[in-house]
Amino acid sequence: MGHRVGRVLITGEEIAGRIQELAGAVAHDYAEKDPVLVGVLKGAVVFLADLIRAADIPITLDFVELSSYGAGTGSSGLVEIISDLSGSIENRHVLIVEDIIDTGRTAHYLRRNLESRHPASLRLCALLNKAGRREIVVEIDYVGFTIPNEFVVGYGLDFMAHYRNLPYIAVLEPEPAGPEPGGSLALQDLE
Ligand code: IMP
Ligand code: MG
Repeated sequence: MGHRVGRVLITGEEIAGRIQELAGAVAHDYAEKDPVLVGVLKGAVVFLADLIRAADIPITLDFVELSSYGAGTGSSGLVEIISDLSGSIENRHVLIVEDIIDTGRTAHYLRRNLESRHPASLRLCALLNKAGRREIVVEIDYVGFTIPNEFVVGYGLDFMAHYRNLPYIAVLEPEPAGPEPGGSLALQDLE
């Protein structure tokens, strides 16, 4: 069965407003700390790009790419580093920036992994929190929005590598059966 972009859960305006608030909190908490913001590729790039431009303090950036999900909407439960940080975080104030915390496995793994490198401090900022799906307890220090247990796309979040460029967050819906007059944006051919 194909999928399509369904109803908008969070508009671009709502996201922009919330990011101003999060960035204000981050700027306040890290004003004198020259933090390293660690973006989790690829989903966090859109959020990270907006967050740092709203936080008017000195920061540096690094990235890590992890695999947790397979190609679809289910979690494999296994996490590994595909691409590691480019620099040391020893004695640095580190803020992990994630798109979404779902089961918590990815964030739990990353927190433990980065903690072992002896940062001065380590916190987690996530745009979305799907609290109802949590399997492992993770402390999230800055949360944009808590959302219901639905698979969402847009604003960095993907389904089968697509939809990251939507400027809002929408629910991914199954394509209704039968022919669609006028065509649709579904990625049926990818499945
Ligand atoms: P977790 O390890 O189960 O917490 O999953 C974290 C990762 O799964 C996120 O960084 C996303 O890449 C992906 N993920 C979880 N839920 C969604 C969703 O609703 N849409 C898109 N990606 C998701
Ligand atoms: Mg993903």
